[in-house]
Amino acid sequence: MNTETVVIDEVSSKEAKEIFKRAGRIIKQGGLVAFPTETVYGLGGDALNKEASAKIYAAKGRPSDNPLIVHIADIDNLYKITTQVSDEALKLAQAFWPGPLTMIFPKGEAVPYATTGGLDTVAVRMPDNETALAFIREAGGYIAAPSANLSGRPSPTTAAHVAEDMNGRIDMIIDSGACRIGLESTIVDLTGDMPMILRPGYISLKMLSEVVGEVLIDPAIIGPMDENAHPKAPGMKYRHYAPKGLLTIVSGKDDKVKEYISRCIEEGHKLNKRIGVIADSESQEAYRAADYCADAGKADDEIEISSRLYGLLRGCDENNIDLIYSEEFDTPQLGMAIMNRLMKAAGHTVVKV
Ligand code: TXA
Ligand code: MG
Repeated sequence: MNTETVVIDEVSSKEAKEIFKRAGRIIKQGGLVAFPTETVYGLGGDALNKEASAKIYAAKGRPSDNPLIVHIADIDNLYKITTQVSDEALKLAQAFWPGPLTMIFPKGEAVPYATTGGLDTVAVRMPDNETALAFIREAGGYIAAPSANLSGRPSPTTAAHVAEDMNGRIDMIIDSGACRIGLESTIVDLTGDMPMILRPGYISLKMLSEVVGEVLIDPAIIGPMDENAHPKAPGMKYRHYAPKGLLTIVSGKDDKVKEYISRCIEEGHKLNKRIGVIADSESQEAYRAADYCADAGKADDEIEISSRLYGLLRGCDENNIDLIYSEEFDTPQLGMAIMNRLMKAAGHTVVKV
């Protein structure tokens, strides 16, 4: 299959409208189109067409028990794909949509089980990206989209990342630049007695609680995975976001961390290993001996850190890095999401110094 990449500069231009029409036609015919959102690039297909969902799983190489998020552009469409929208859900939608929040609802009949991985619930989100919204509307209003990476690879935050993984596997890539946030949406389950976060993201526990009161966190997403932990979002059980090199997170006081990682660089070089380090801008100088020093951005700019993270993990691969050491990024709003993704990429390997 030939994958065409198209660029959107100005969403309301005549050229863009033509592109959205063509992309919409591809979706209505059961094809696949990758598109930008404010979190990561999505791999879109018609959410109400089970053959399209099957194609998404095939293109990603994703286990089919891992359900897809349905993306909508208009709140009215929520009612067609769910059987119940609680007051809490409506409040959260009003507060955070369009935006990086996915909510889980009881599934309506219109949504095939192929899209929900066999579940009776459906995940829905309205992305905060003009290109995404225009594309979804033109494509009929319901786009099933996982992140547009091959299963197990870091999620794509640029169209170039998408092309790396998806060239020849999908019909079209819509490029409208880098994703603003760079980490997948917060997922909240609203089908239980109390709202529960299944995946941390930009919309934090605090932000959610301010709207709906007490919110729980799925305990399985905090600690290391073992056979007793059953995360409620099926996708959270897979080792994900992983670069090819072995990643270790180094935790502790700043100077101790620098000392430890510097020693690892030295020891690694003796063994002819290529060493990568992920550290904030302020720390770059300390790791000059590394083969690839990934600059995560300024320590107090959490959006910079979140938006760069996946690109840096891919950068480690491009630089053929064998061993990667990362500092911790304990920032107030996004820290939980950043560390959740890093921990998964590291298979929960943490060294405390
Ligand atoms: O930011 C995002 O959410 C991005 C962009 C493209 O919108 N999408 C994304 O999709 O991250 P994906 O497929 O990579 O991750 C979806 C996650 C998986 O962990 C999946 O198990 C969970 O959502 N999920 C989907 N439907 C669910 C459901 N009905 N119940 C529980 N978890 C669900
Ligand atoms: Mg994903």
